[in-house]
Amino acid sequence: MCGIVGYTGPRQAASLLIEGLRRLEYRGYDSAGIAVVNGRGLEVMKAAGKLSALEQQLAGKLPQGTVGIGHTRWATHGAPTTPNAHPHTDQSGDIAVIHNGIIENAGAIRKMLEARGHTFTSETDTEVLVHLVGELYDGSLEEAVAAALRDVDGAYGLAFISEREPGVIVAARKGSPLLVGVGEDEYFIASDASPLLEHTRSVVYLDDGEMAILTPDGYRIRNLETTQIDKPVNQIEWDLATIERGGYSHFMLKEICEQRESVTNTLRGHLLEEEGTSRVTGLNLSDEQLKRIERIVITACGTSWHAGLIGEYMLEEMARIPVEVEYASEFRYRNPVVDERTLVIAISQSGETADTLAAVREAKLRGARTIGLVNVVGSTIAREVDGGIYLHAGPEVGVASTKAFTSQVAALALVSLRIARLRNLSILQGRDFIQHLQALPDKIQQILNRSDEIEQLAERFVRASNALYLGRGVNFPVALEGALKLKEISYIHAEGYPAAEMKHGPIALIDEMMPVVFIAPKDAVYQKILSNMEEVKARGGKVIALVNECDAQVDRLADACIEIPETHELLSPMLTIIPLQLFSYYVAVRRGCNVDQPRNLAKSVTVE
Ligand code: AGP
Repeated sequence: MCGIVGYTGPRQAASLLIEGLRRLEYRGYDSAGIAVVNGRGLEVMKAAGKLSALEQQLAGKLPQGTVGIGHTRWATHGAPTTPNAHPHTDQSGDIAVIHNGIIENAGAIRKMLEARGHTFTSETDTEVLVHLVGELYDGSLEEAVAAALRDVDGAYGLAFISEREPGVIVAARKGSPLLVGVGEDEYFIASDASPLLEHTRSVVYLDDGEMAILTPDGYRIRNLETTQIDKPVNQIEWDLATIERGGYSHFMLKEICEQRESVTNTLRGHLLEEEGTSRVTGLNLSDEQLKRIERIVITACGTSWHAGLIGEYMLEEMARIPVEVEYASEFRYRNPVVDERTLVIAISQSGETADTLAAVREAKLRGARTIGLVNVVGSTIAREVDGGIYLHAGPEVGVASTKAFTSQVAALALVSLRIARLRNLSILQGRDFIQHLQALPDKIQQILNRSDEIEQLAERFVRASNALYLGRGVNFPVALEGALKLKEISYIHAEGYPAAEMKHGPIALIDEMMPVVFIAPKDAVYQKILSNMEEVKARGGKVIALVNECDAQVDRLADACIEIPETHELLSPMLTIIPLQLFSYYVAVRRGCNVDQPRNLAKSVTVE
């Protein structure tokens, strides 16, 4: 997520902005910049890469001036390059803006402005916005911003400055957090409290539709019309570390709890309800090319590989294309049968996993078409595949992958839907699938709202030494993922298995010390998995059942039961994984493990 900081007051702004951006680094970013009104005009300095690149550019020649804005950018639209970095300026170069969010009608506005002679230097929606403000400026920055925002669709947290109005910052919020820091005769704007703490703990939180006008003499809050609004000044109680985690105890819990938003962001702009299909133009594959695919290979590692297994069920069930899911580390060294009729899908949160990158290169060498489902914009895999879908899940800081997994499954659903509708899926089936997809974020939230229930369940299994996760069909990969989550953060040995496979060996492990987690939504094989629960119960195993309804039959078999909302059978993993993420988190916390940085693990395995 992008970071925003602004200052106006008696002190030099530049060094305060740089320090503020340093406090915002935890949010994840790939470029940074500042703008300062320096008495002679507007000075903008920005650089791709980390803050150090910007500091090198500024070395010893910090812009002089007492009002300025600073930004760290997490690229969503437009690669992480210097021209795409914020701040952006209007046609005249007199007005600068920094922005967090997405302007959804930027394309139309850009065309209108280009027709009026505007020229743009970046691929970003943000630059369009500041050009619009410049076009509307008629002596008041505040009124020009208000007028522009009345014409804009989308989400934003933003701040403008202009050499025409030294000392003034105009900020606005719609969907992306923004707060005013009230200092001693100095005022700040920021996307969260982390850059403010060393200066003030007095803040005013903006709500959607509100603007803040800051000057060295004070601040005023209004809405897009003209009404002045009185807002309370709050005192920040949190320390810096807690602020960086958004108030959560760990990044992993924060990211688990962000999944309503992250799945919404993954799906945003891709669902075509009327046609019952998806828009996936980023694949750079025409419908003709998609129709000609004869075979799909999905390659990834770890959690991403588990998401790929779910993609196999989706693609084979919906699009009737044979799919193989390959560990990238295996694919890269064996002699895979891959050619120009094969589509290779690489899945990677980081976009930097060495094995997955090598698999992509091997697939391309053999003539396959490659696409990437990647979270980090501009990462190596994202740049080397022939096309793809960005997950837009936001930075995933916790080493154990959580929100990236559900976003990967959502992206696979989009690809499956597009191909299936070109082949044998009816428009009504497509519309039905879309309706289920659209309902998922709220259903995820329903489960998250019951996290206390899962925390209490975790308490009962903190001392376990082993655990078995069992699922059937599209929930077999969820059994694998649930087991991986538990073992990688709590260090309890856990295995995932197809439920029917239990009788071919693992059943020998069952005793009263062995928790067995059944992922059992009501699907075509529900009764069969109930029989597997009987087998475990009969041997004294502890049964934890994830079901759609904890009815009498399940209550008789299970020592613990967690209800999951119903959804399309192929989409159920996006719900069944949520309690397993929470379960592993709470067990690991109770065991005193380092949840965000588990021993021996790295967030991105960039070596073999
Ligand atoms: C999962 O929790 C782990 N962090 C790990 O298995 C991870 O999924 C794997 O290393 C792949 O990473 P990637 O998605 O960034 O390629």
